[in-house]
Amino acid sequence: MTAASAARRGAAIAFAALALGAASVAGADREAGRRKAEVCAACHGPAGNSVNPAVPSIAGQPAQFVSTELFLFREGNRKDPQMSPIAAGLSNGDLNDLAEYFAAEKLAPPKHRTTPENAAAAAALAHKFNCVQCHGRELLGQQHIPRLAGQQPDYLLAQLRGFKAGTRADIDGNMTSAAQALSDRDIEVLVDYLAGLDVGK
Ligand code: HEC
Ligand code: HEC
Repeated sequence: MTAASAARRGAAIAFAALALGAASVAGADREAGRRKAEVCAACHGPAGNSVNPAVPSIAGQPAQFVSTELFLFREGNRKDPQMSPIAAGLSNGDLNDLAEYFAAEKLAPPKHRTTPENAAAAAALAHKFNCVQCHGRELLGQQHIPRLAGQQPDYLLAQLRGFKAGTRADIDGNMTSAAQALSDRDIEVLVDYLAGLDVGK
């Protein structure tokens, strides 16, 4: 595939996923989502609150983000040996029901404790590198952009390194671009900060 055709394919996927996300409000059934989510707890923890530092919490993520990521895993754009087989069996209805359910669940307070030096430095980095512009002032996420506050630390570290290396799939290329400016040290400081943010929601 040429770079141009790869870009066109990426754009088409982004459009399809966004259209799916936008539709999620209309027909989604949160109670059906709760039943369909029973299988997810084995890895993502009770009600989407992960207890494994390497596995993401999905409680309280924006619904559009959850359906978009499930779509990307199902279509094979984002790949993971554990998550891909799960997503492969989901219908569009399942994606929307699951998204509606997890978006309404509360994120548990984080276990991670940020060091005071990193807290101050990272808040400045989050402004300097525009993290707050896309992920929201309190880093709670919006639409297809994920909540970062209170996310599991080892997971955040792996994703940021992946975006920087170009190995983590990305719906519109924005996050891969944003990660290029980060040094390895910036990434460590940001992760220590984000994983300890208790948003009290
Ligand atoms: C066998 C373990 C396992 C099961 C079961 C599982 N997941 Fe996952 N899931 C993962 C892992 C591991 C990742 C992180 C993959 C990566 O590092 O890219 C993930 C990632 C995700 C993401 C992306 C989160 C983010 O912040 O980017 C979503 C959404 C998700 N899973 C939803 C679900 C749903 C919904 C179910 C149930 C239908 C489910 N998962 C079942 C292991 C699992
Ligand atoms: C121009 C918008 C934009 C900027 C700036 C941006 N992000 Fe993102 N970020 C996104 C989008 C969109 C995604 C979802 C990508 C996808 O999965 O397709 C994302 C995903 C992520 C993820 C993956 C989380 C998960 O649950 O899978 C992390 C971590 C992240 N961003 C951290 C950051 C940090 C730290 C900064 C600042 C250094 C930042 N982002 C700046 C748009 C942005």
